Amino acid sequence: MGIRPRIILIMGIFSLIATLIIGAASYKLTERNAIIEAKQKGQLLFHYILAYRQYFKTQQRALVMELVDENRFYPELMSGFLVTRGIWDVFVEENKGYDFKQATIDPLYPPNKADVDEIKMIDTFRQSPDLQMMEGVIDKNGEKYFYLAYPIKIDAKDCLRCHGDPADAPKDQIEIYGTENGYHWQFGDTVSAYVIYVSIQEALASAKQMAGMLFLVGIGCFFLALLAMALFLDRSVIQPIEYLSDRIEEISQGKNLQESFRPEGDDEIGILARAIDHLRLSMMRSHKGKEHGRD
Ligand code: HEC
Repeated sequence: MGIRPRIILIMGIFSLIATLIIGAASYKLTERNAIIEAKQKGQLLFHYILAYRQYFKTQQRALVMELVDENRFYPELMSGFLVTRGIWDVFVEENKGYDFKQATIDPLYPPNKADVDEIKMIDTFRQSPDLQMMEGVIDKNGEKYFYLAYPIKIDAKDCLRCHGDPADAPKDQIEIYGTENGYHWQFGDTVSAYVIYVSIQEALASAKQMAGMLFLVGIGCFFLALLAMALFLDRSVIQPIEYLSDRIEEISQGKNLQESFRPEGDDEIGILARAIDHLRLSMMRSHKGKEHGRD
């Protein structure tokens, strides 16, 4: 194989590998950014939820408790979990791509029931009591989400008034939720987790698109560079070498020894050309010497 196809083949393979690496790196970087952004959004939402929860607990509920007959229990006014869920339901109507769940192994309110993945998260929190938070990427109904999970522990005896023995629970609660689910929780147990989901589906799709575009643009640029190099090789290396090898051939056969050529440039080809020209001159001299000797 000649120099030209060999160099072009090698450069072509390297260009292909380089563009593939650029495409893959771009995908990884955009994916990482999408996850960082999703995490920031998830944390912000969670902090807002907790802030409202705190305000509800310390300001609103205390007042409601004073105003309402102590035997009555209105979950919409008195359960922080219900209020949080209610506010979230309104929020998510206008804000697609997010989900939030107070995922619970055995909940009072059935839609709060933890799914397979959430049960695993709760189990992990149970096994590592010091773990404050979990995060990761998860597939939910065929869509990719970044999730943040925080444990919910039965950390007050008061919780068991409503989640312990149904006989102790407020009558209003039993009327609304029944006595089947959401009871017999244990003090100190991690029964549930707040889980926030932020969709990264679109971000990943555009990361893929961008990687594809970069790949194509990269291939285009390398193709132009290869073309330029092929032209340069042809003009500055291949043609001079072909010319010089023809000349050496002639000189070796003693032909056209008078025909001088002006070696150009001081690069390697120029040096080679000068050397060949010296060869031509010395061949010419020795030819002349022989002719004189014969005389
Ligand atoms: C006065 C009764 C009452 C008390 C006290 C109470 N809860 Fe609840 N809790 C409820 C009700 C009612 C719901 C259902 C909310 C809904 O419909 O979303 C609920 C929901 C929950 C949920 C969501 C899962 C589910 O069961 O639907 C968790 C988790 C939870 N409570 C944990 C706690 C913890 C922890 C405490 C103590 C800090 C506590 N609760 C104290 C009544 C109570």
